[in-house]
Amino acid sequence: MRSQILVVDDEIAVLRALERFLAEKGYEVTLADTFDKAAKILESGRIDLALIDLKLGDRDGIELVQYQQKVSPQTACMILTGFGSIDTAIQAIKSGAFHYVTKPFQFDDILNLVQKALEHQRTREENRLLKKQLNLKYGLENIVGVSDGMKSIFELVAKVADTDSTVLLLGESGTGKELVAKAIHYNSRRSQRPLVPVNCAAIPEDLLESELFGHVKGAFTGAVVSRTGRFEMADGGTLFLDEIGDMSPKLQVKLLRVLQERRFEPVGSGRSVEVDVRIVAATNKNLERAVKERTFREDLFYRLNVIPIRIPPLRERKGDIPMLIEHFLQRFAKENGKKAPQVTPECMQMLSNYAWPGNVRELENAIERLVILKPEQVISIKDLPEKFLQSGGKIFTSVNIPDNGISFKNVVNDFENELILKALEKTAWNKNKAATLLKLNRTTLVEKIKRRQLEKVILS
Ligand SMILES: Nc1ncnc2c1ncn2[C@@H]1O[C@H](COP(=O)(O)OP(=O)(O)OP(=O)(O)O)[C@@H](O)[C@H]1O
Ligand SMILES: [Mg+2]
Repeated sequence: MRSQILVVDDEIAVLRALERFLAEKGYEVTLADTFDKAAKILESGRIDLALIDLKLGDRDGIELVQYQQKVSPQTACMILTGFGSIDTAIQAIKSGAFHYVTKPFQFDDILNLVQKALEHQRTREENRLLKKQLNLKYGLENIVGVSDGMKSIFELVAKVADTDSTVLLLGESGTGKELVAKAIHYNSRRSQRPLVPVNCAAIPEDLLESELFGHVKGAFTGAVVSRTGRFEMADGGTLFLDEIGDMSPKLQVKLLRVLQERRFEPVGSGRSVEVDVRIVAATNKNLERAVKERTFREDLFYRLNVIPIRIPPLRERKGDIPMLIEHFLQRFAKENGKKAPQVTPECMQMLSNYAWPGNVRELENAIERLVILKPEQVISIKDLPEKFLQSGGKIFTSVNIPDNGISFKNVVNDFENELILKALEKTAWNKNKAATLLKLNRTTLVEKIKRRQLEKVILS
């Protein structure tokens, strides 16, 4: 593909001369004789290199360089300038221009620089794409999930990551809010800048203000040195306000003001600091309810609730459980220098049926425990802690064998009857579905029902 060059100059003669020369050398050339025309073309994002004259009628070429850096940072930029305005040329380079050419110029010099600038731009663009892919991997590969709920979260994260929109992550404890916050940051254009977390619940109220906004030396007793707040540390990056639902009412007011004005004053300082931060907030509280109960400010809620992302509890996306188990088995086996054990299907079933009140964190801990404590290569039901067995219900109540013995045949018979009846009950007596539930052939099930005269039991 031919490189696209934009030439911006208010002298038509210069434009024409450069157009002819560059086109002859095989470049695709676009011309603009005003700031506004050039700005429009740059916005399209298709220009590889812009040659900008520093004097553009009543507008300043430096302004255009700065605009180009903002709307089309992948475009390389070169400055044309009259002799004697080297200072401005240097200023342009500081603003991001690659090089400058003084007028009057030699065409060969221009060609040489154009080639260099394009080469430089290509390498930079390749690096940028490479980095973006790396970050994408970094951010999302850690989040395991195949359920519809998780799939729509992946889609939403991909959509909003590269914007500056405020995101509010909602979900029970251990559902992965922090993980998603990281994915958003590392998939955004801010990924090279810091992701600064603040745990609003863990910091005492009177310290939180200075933690967020910083303070100057002597601002209060104990402030022996001045300190930079988290807002300022996150400049250009992302501020992760974790456990936002636990923030005190007093600080809620202050936070709201900073979010509105994008500036604040460190404690004890008259200086006002302007920051460029993207806000991601998270809570396991029901914020709507907190707003109704007046423990959370409504105006702050609306400021934060621009893009809400709800992460469903694990029990509502059981489909993710086997994959998460596999993921954690591999991870903890590796960390402990072991081979990842296998989980029997029944055991997997049992783990999938458990309610997981502590969500993925609880699952992660359970698997770590199993990997460390069980030296065998197979994890079966007997290896599971008590709590998992209870949700299995009556079928796992243990049988006591009396001193005078018990009929093996009868117990097994009763057990089979109970299983079949349970499955029939669960499926509203639909034998097809019941057979599927029990992983039996339909004919086998029908035969068993007949032989055991279970139909009679149902009717009576
Ligand atoms: N989908 C997932 N895939 C892989 N690991 C996950 C997933 N969700 C959560 N985890 C892991 O579970 C643990 C808890 O996740 P995280 O800390 O993000 O939860 P949280 O929602 O912030 O919880 P809390 O409200 O308690 O702070 C972490 O170790 C995280 O890596
Ligand atoms: Mg968290």
